[in-house]
Amino acid sequence: MKYLLMAMICSVSLEVVIISMSVASGEATAPSACEICKCHTEYDVFTIDCSNRNLSTVPKNIPANVTTLILTSNKIAELKVEDFSGTPNLTKLYLRKNMLTVVPPDLFANNQKLTDINLSGNKLRTIPETLFHHTPKLIRLSCSKNNLQEIPPDLFHSTQLIERIHLQENDIQYLPPGLFSHSRSVKEIYMSNNLLKHLNPDLFTNTSSLETVFFSHNNLQEISPDLFHPTPSIEKVFLNNNSLTTLPESLFAFAKILYQLNLSNNKLKSLPEKLFANTSKLISLNLSSNCLAYIPENLLPNTKKLQSLSFSSNMLESIPERIFHSTPKLKSLDFVYNRLTELPRDLFAAVEELKYLQMSANRIKILEKDLFRNVVLTNEMDLSNNSILSIPDGLFTSNEKSQLLKTLFLQRNKIRYIQKDAFKGLGELRLICLFDNQIEAIDSGAFSVESLKKIFLFKNNLQQITNISFSNSSLSEIHLYGNNITNITSNATEGLLSQPIW
Ligand SMILES: *[C@@H]1O[C@H](CO)[C@@H](O)[C@H](O)[C@H]1NC(C)=O
Ligand SMILES: *[C@@H]1O[C@H](CO)[C@@H](O)[C@H](O)[C@H]1NC(C)=O
Ligand SMILES: *[C@@H]1O[C@H](CO)[C@@H](O)[C@H](O)[C@H]1NC(C)=O
Ligand SMILES: *[C@@H]1O[C@H](CO)[C@@H](O)[C@H](O)[C@H]1NC(C)=O
Ligand SMILES: *[C@@H]1O[C@H](CO)[C@@H](O)[C@H](O)[C@H]1NC(C)=O
Ligand SMILES: *[C@@H]1O[C@H](CO)[C@@H](O)[C@H](O)[C@H]1NC(C)=O
Ligand SMILES: *[C@@H]1O[C@H](CO)[C@@H](O)[C@H](O)[C@H]1NC(C)=O
Ligand SMILES: *[C@@H]1O[C@H](CO)[C@@H](O)[C@H](O)[C@H]1NC(C)=O
Ligand SMILES: *[C@@H]1O[C@H](CO)[C@@H](O)[C@H](O)[C@H]1NC(C)=O
Ligand SMILES: *[C@@H]1O[C@H](CO)[C@@H](O)[C@H](O)[C@H]1NC(C)=O
Ligand SMILES: *[C@@H]1O[C@H](CO)[C@@H](O)[C@H](O)[C@H]1NC(C)=O
Ligand SMILES: *[C@@H]1O[C@H](CO)[C@@H](O)[C@H](O)[C@H]1NC(C)=O
Repeated sequence: MKYLLMAMICSVSLEVVIISMSVASGEATAPSACEICKCHTEYDVFTIDCSNRNLSTVPKNIPANVTTLILTSNKIAELKVEDFSGTPNLTKLYLRKNMLTVVPPDLFANNQKLTDINLSGNKLRTIPETLFHHTPKLIRLSCSKNNLQEIPPDLFHSTQLIERIHLQENDIQYLPPGLFSHSRSVKEIYMSNNLLKHLNPDLFTNTSSLETVFFSHNNLQEISPDLFHPTPSIEKVFLNNNSLTTLPESLFAFAKILYQLNLSNNKLKSLPEKLFANTSKLISLNLSSNCLAYIPENLLPNTKKLQSLSFSSNMLESIPERIFHSTPKLKSLDFVYNRLTELPRDLFAAVEELKYLQMSANRIKILEKDLFRNVVLTNEMDLSNNSILSIPDGLFTSNEKSQLLKTLFLQRNKIRYIQKDAFKGLGELRLICLFDNQIEAIDSGAFSVESLKKIFLFKNNLQQITNISFSNSSLSEIHLYGNNITNITSNATEGLLSQPIW
């Protein structure tokens, strides 16, 4: 009896053993991550690509020697501390486009070699302050496109090699002082599309490698005068779409290699005259969509490399005559939507070549005959939507060099009469728009520009086309409808490739 009982107990425990063994062997044969995902090795880089697999958790059985793990575009809503604890050599981890709302503070405790972490496109509301305290080699971090409202002060305490910090498209209202004070290597900070109102004056203390800052699309109302003083390497600054009303004169005093600055879509009412006194490397400056009523006489004393400048959509009534006298490399100039009534005679005296001259939607009445006497016009000039009364004869021949303009917009002005030499000198001109003017007469030969392909003359007051010749070899379209033409001589369009469109 006793013996029998023993045997029964034995057999029971044997069964238990068998059951637990089968569980264990079941786990051992669970698919390796490489059976679900794509694994490939190149030199000592071992990549596991699990992107677009509809995964709701991180796969088990990730080989311990993985170096790059891609989990992009899945449905992972939760991460466990164990998920990455067995992969000490992981250097790149991509978790973009998942459904994470939180991450455990110790998630990367065993991932000291991480250089890249991308958490962009999740639903994170906070980041644990210690999350990166065990990842001293982190170089690139993205938490963009989440719902972050704040950033803990010590988040970057241990990531002293970090170069790129992407936190754009969140709901961040405030950046704690000293946030980047250990980020000596940081080159790029993206903070656009957040809810920032102020920046701490010391925000960039110790970030002496900083090259690019994107703070566009926030609600910044003012900027401290020495914000950029600790960043002598700053090259690109994006502050567009904020609520700035003024800028301190010394803001860029030490930004000596700044080359791109976007201040468009703010509320700037004026600019300090010395703002660009030291930014001698500036190439592109965008001040469009502000409330500027005037430009200081000496705003650009030293920006010899400036190529692109936009003042469009402001309230400017004039441009100082000498403003471009130290910007010989200017190529693209945009003053669209202002209240300019004239362009001073010497405006372009020191400019070598203008590729794009955009002066549309102003109130310009008169063009000085020798306005372009020193500058070569290439590509495009837009003077449409002004009040121009006439094109001075010889406007494009006052320069010894030939003008290379390809497109000329003069529509929606008040031109009555086209003189014989109005377009003379434009040997490369292909398209000219003169519609919506009050043109009654055109001198013979005014359009004898060999390269012209299209002429838009509709909606004018032309009554007869008798002595005008459009007969040049490359012309393919003349638009003349909306006039009141009753008399046209038979040879007017002789030699045209196709008939004009009336
Ligand atoms: C990673 O480990 C597997 C065995 O688990 C081995 O086949 C592979 O070669 C290793 N890859 C690298 C890059 O070390
Ligand atoms: C993705 O997973 C969900 C459940 O997690 C499932 O309902 C759905 O069918 C899966 N979709 C695809 C395309 O596999
Ligand atoms: C991690 O990399 C080191 C150095 O290359 C190597 O010695 C070690 O075996 C690797 N560990 C794993 C789990 O593959
Ligand atoms: C994170 O991923 C996004 C989307 O692919 C990419 O644009 C971004 O450069 C990555 N961020 C970092 C810091 O590598
Ligand atoms: C800047 O770095 C120095 C040296 O690492 C440190 O003593 C100082 O506290 C840092 N500045 C700030 C504002 O944290
Ligand atoms: C940013 O600028 C664009 C383009 O001018 C404008 O349409 C938009 O309303 C601005 N956005 C904000 C948030 O100010
Ligand atoms: C230009 O830089 C010098 C130092 O190199 C500085 O003393 C001066 O105040 C700066 N000027 C302006 C207007 O920013
Ligand atoms: C800001 O200006 C730069 C160059 O001036 C331009 O390339 C960029 O598109 C602008 N950004 C916005 C958002 O307007
Ligand atoms: C300036 O910014 C405006 C608005 O952001 C943009 O539309 C324009 O393309 C920019 N111009 C230049 C020259 O960068
Ligand atoms: C068109 O021209 C004719 C002849 O000059 C004139 O009688 C007529 O009133 C004009 N029509 C319009 C709409 O200007
Ligand atoms: C048409 O114009 C020609 C040349 O100016 C003129 O001789 C002729 O009388 C005009 N014809 C009409 C019908 O007005
Ligand atoms: C066209 O014909 C008119 C009269 O018939 C003549 O006066 C004029 O010189 C001719 N124009 C051309 C370009 O041949």
